[in-house]
Amino acid sequence: MTRYTRNELEISRLIGGRIEGLKEYAPEPLEETAKRLGLPQGQLIKLDANENPYGPTRHTLEALARYASYHRYPDPISRRLRQAIGEYLHIDPAFILVGNGSDELIDLILRLFHPDSQGRGISEVIDCPPTFGMYAFYGTTNDMRVLSLPRDEQFQIDVKAIETLCQRDPRPRILFLASPNNPDGQPLPEEILERILRLPLIVVLDEAYVEFSGGSRANWVPERENLIVLRTFSKWAGLAGLRVGYGIFPQKLIKALWKLKSPYNVNGVAQAAALATLEDLANAQATVEKIVDERERLLVKLREISYLQVYPSAANFVLCRVRGISIQHLRNAMEARGILLRYFDRPELKDCVRITVGTPMQDEAVLVVLRALEKEAK
Ligand SMILES: Cc1ncc(COP(=O)(O)O)c(C=O)c1O
Repeated sequence: MTRYTRNELEISRLIGGRIEGLKEYAPEPLEETAKRLGLPQGQLIKLDANENPYGPTRHTLEALARYASYHRYPDPISRRLRQAIGEYLHIDPAFILVGNGSDELIDLILRLFHPDSQGRGISEVIDCPPTFGMYAFYGTTNDMRVLSLPRDEQFQIDVKAIETLCQRDPRPRILFLASPNNPDGQPLPEEILERILRLPLIVVLDEAYVEFSGGSRANWVPERENLIVLRTFSKWAGLAGLRVGYGIFPQKLIKALWKLKSPYNVNGVAQAAALATLEDLANAQATVEKIVDERERLLVKLREISYLQVYPSAANFVLCRVRGISIQHLRNAMEARGILLRYFDRPELKDCVRITVGTPMQDEAVLVVLRALEKEAK
């Protein structure tokens, strides 16, 4: 056995190689953006992260104001919240596990299947980009091989390629699919999901935006051994800052996940806020309806702009491809007015901009800038 003295220990060489290619996730803080743009922070129109512009319901805010258990550890198994989610989805709470945002659950699922020292487990993840970046990120941080099977130009997944891969080499893998998908906003057709579920795959269906589209498959889980559905309170419920997500898991998996998760992964304030949202469901859903109506209005108005190719969306954002003016020019024009949108550096999303559906006033500000640029488009 090698013995090291302290001086010989090269700490940086002890860190796993998988970290080397990663970048820190550190978006510019809003104060910094405001400073960079020379605008007061309150003047920024933040439509870059698919957040809910209305925030939580009044009942939820009141529940937060009344919260009095800061000095107590939270319920590690979120009993009351899981009960309420079960009623919301008409699913037995025994299938539900709550996490610190659905991000935590993506990581937890991968940790669950990560191969052990005898090689038992799953070593490959299938990612279908362009999609939510955290699937590939957590695949990498968990030392799994991430196989990339890209979508076509209309953002449809390549089912044939997935089937061929599974036929050629039928080792079990984990496949992540978002429905509606981020960044394009299109849902996964039911027949495609049926086909995929027949393969030797653990399918993680991420329904972060499903409240804006309808058509959840959460209630398929009790009937399928290889389907996991992820949901979140970040988008429809306006609780992105509190980090509450949940998963609906087959029984064989959830029993193992309970053992693996950190004891107090969901803090007490977050549990109280999510619970209050479900107690006030009619008002929370009224906000969702407002956003859906506004999305439809925005889609119509965006389609009137000649240099935009507007993709259909069933989520709370719209993806557009910009043709005839440079995306940097569009970005500069937006930022000059304090409007923050999401731009991409992936080649498949070159010249694309994703606009979160805001309030009618915020969206009107976006449309004013887009229309003003119309004269410059070639
Ligand atoms: C498809 C998708 N899944 C999950 C998340 C993250 O959800 P949470 O805030 O619950 O971690 C996002 C956030 O942008 C997303 O786009």
